[in-house]
Amino acid sequence: MNITRIIFLTIHLGLGVLSEYIVKDIAKECPCDPVYCRTHKYYYNREVVVVAEGKSDQSAWHWHDITMVITTEEVGKEEAKKLMCTAHQNHANFAFIREVPTITNTSDPVLLDWLEETVKKEKELYADYVALDLLKLLGQCKADSSHVQEVLALLKFMVEKFTSPSAELVCIVPYKPPCYDGDCSLTQYMAEHCAAFITSPESFITCDTNPKCIAKATMPMTSLVFGVEEFIDHGITPDKLLIGIPWHGYDYTCVNYTTDVKTGGKNQMTCYFDERNNTESCNTSLREKMSLAEIKNSYPDQYKNAKSHHYHPIYRSDYINVKKGEQQHQIWYEGHDSLLDKYMYVRSMNLRGMVIWTADDLSTKSTDDAAEWNWILHNLFSTGDIEHHSLDMAGTIAGISVGCFVLGTLLGFAFGCAVMRRRMQRKGLRLPFHRDEEETDFHDDDNTL
Ligand SMILES: *[C@@H]1O[C@H](CO)[C@@H](O)[C@H](O)[C@H]1NC(C)=O
Ligand SMILES: *[C@@H]1O[C@H](CO)[C@@H](O)[C@H](O)[C@H]1NC(C)=O
Ligand SMILES: *[C@@H]1O[C@H](CO)[C@@H](O)[C@H](O)[C@H]1NC(C)=O
Ligand SMILES: *[C@@H]1O[C@H](CO)[C@@H](O)[C@H](O)[C@H]1NC(C)=O
Repeated sequence: MNITRIIFLTIHLGLGVLSEYIVKDIAKECPCDPVYCRTHKYYYNREVVVVAEGKSDQSAWHWHDITMVITTEEVGKEEAKKLMCTAHQNHANFAFIREVPTITNTSDPVLLDWLEETVKKEKELYADYVALDLLKLLGQCKADSSHVQEVLALLKFMVEKFTSPSAELVCIVPYKPPCYDGDCSLTQYMAEHCAAFITSPESFITCDTNPKCIAKATMPMTSLVFGVEEFIDHGITPDKLLIGIPWHGYDYTCVNYTTDVKTGGKNQMTCYFDERNNTESCNTSLREKMSLAEIKNSYPDQYKNAKSHHYHPIYRSDYINVKKGEQQHQIWYEGHDSLLDKYMYVRSMNLRGMVIWTADDLSTKSTDDAAEWNWILHNLFSTGDIEHHSLDMAGTIAGISVGCFVLGTLLGFAFGCAVMRRRMQRKGLRLPFHRDEEETDFHDDDNTL
């Protein structure tokens, strides 16, 4: 027996004994097979992340394609542990969200408690990542450069405290990099210390992006494209960007509305949800959040039939106009067309992936939600078991779609795209996902093109 072999065996035995101890210790705390109660970091080039609120039956989710689960702060510890087990069992990473307090005094006991709690939670939940929600801390519209220095000091302090050997930090940020008075040093610092950036779907409508208090898309495509460009320009590589996509919408009550506004060659109803008072920003609590399941149940016909809802050609988002009694409402959401557009954009830009925000928004009611899940799975994001033919097709369509989008934005017409689509239809090519028969392909309502 040679010496290398002996050393090898000794190490092997040593590790075996050690891991047995670890496993016994874990078994006390672990609600499932202890093999899943360890950090299991998996690496994927292309991710489909889901945010979980712990409100629905996760067995209905399409686990095969989920690469990471992130629980919100509302999810209790036991529920979170179960989700961690399910995630690890399905070769997905597990993370939890922690909203960073807006305290910049690094000796404030509230901040220190928060940090301690976060580190403890990371260990107890065997988290692969901790998702720091920085939105409140960063998202001040009128912040100046002294704010940058405070936040930077706080981030440095936190990063030093998070010296976990297993978990990494992912940062939940606004749709565009946080810069104040041209000072972007925060973004540079985060680029070094965040394993990935998740753009929040709630970050598009802020104090400075809606001067007239108009009901609009939760996630306008134009802003998405602009934000991604900004991140790239500030040195964030595409493989670090995860785009949060809302599976919910908002019901706006119109205090006033007009129907004669032309956007993209069509009349659109403009719904004002708040009186504009120059000193104040719009009151966004005047709108009501609705999950996709709720929209689907309340307005089944409008939701399903492409001719009964509207599609905003610039924001690339769906909306419906409804009257409740005498009151005019406008409901904006990401439906069939707009979700597909966003998925294809993320895919075609070779970004790291997308974050479904939240997976519970479909499953809260016992609706037939297979179609929506299939949209993410339509081979655009699959991590395995794909036919090469359909993958190529998905890529081609994604390219065409984005090409059309850019062209449409720049030139304000979609002639080339219509021709392309028609040609595809003639050839019998279909989008690689299930689609109801009564629906038109995209929204080429104008057949004279
Ligand atoms: C920061 O917090 C500590 C502890 O509460 C307090 O003693 C100190 O005065 C605070 N510093 C500032 C600048 O507010
Ligand atoms: C509604 O909007 C129209 C057009 O902007 C404006 O002329 C009118 O005064 C508004 N009405 C109310 C009640 O704000
Ligand atoms: C605008 O805000 C001021 C001060 O808050 C208030 O007095 C005024 O009534 C507001 N105007 C409108 C049109 O809401
Ligand atoms: C915003 O709207 C909500 C709901 O109507 C109301 O309770 C709240 O006072 C409003 N906030 C402001 C700042 O006007």
